[in-house]
Amino acid sequence: MANKGFTLWFTGLSGAGKTTLAKKVQKQILKRGRNVEMLDGDVVRTNLSKGLGFSKEDRDTNIRRIGFVSALLARNEAICIAAAISPYKAVRDEVRAMHENFVEVYTECSLDALEERDVKGLYKKARAGEIKGFTGVDDPYEAPENPEVLVNSETQDIDESTDIIMRYLETKGLIPAATGEDIGTEEEGRIKDKLKALNFID
Ligand code: ADX
Repeated sequence: MANKGFTLWFTGLSGAGKTTLAKKVQKQILKRGRNVEMLDGDVVRTNLSKGLGFSKEDRDTNIRRIGFVSALLARNEAICIAAAISPYKAVRDEVRAMHENFVEVYTECSLDALEERDVKGLYKKARAGEIKGFTGVDDPYEAPENPEVLVNSETQDIDESTDIIMRYLETKGLIPAATGEDIGTEEEGRIKDKLKALNFID
């Protein structure tokens, strides 16, 4: 099967589980022997998008940068996983248009549940007015109307959501199906090295 490049684009509110899910999917794809890079909003904002804030303009710039890099990777038969809030539909569609193969994954979760979890304590700060313009509280989030994949971290556990995404990618012929057959030892070594480099295994 041809190694198609594509971008798997996670969008959703802060704390909805984009990064956790993206990492899990990345690991699963690596196990199928494909090259896969991840561009995570929190990480990108420490390098590629360092200095950008959270105004609409800065968020759009952040998303365009992530989209630009992911399109370069994807056109070279690599798989790119992007995980950023990406709150504005127009820019997500702009990024989509830069790609031949683009899969939008909406990681849905109600604001109530997010405020309840509040892992980073940011919703509390936003409610207290200590952070202004926080997505979902006093800044917009435009949910995708027709995402290729919809997952929900409130109603599904992480394994269920991962399976939904993997099955979608298999069905579309974007990743090889899990055959259950043993892969060669050389291939296995290569994949293990990758997982180690990404701190997935010791
Ligand atoms: S995006 O809007 O440009 O796509 P991105 O995903 O890179 O956002 O960064 C979001 C992360 O930045 C959040 O998970 C949170 O940790 C942090 N953050 C800080 N301030 C804000 C804010 N005003 N709105 C949303 N997230 C914020």
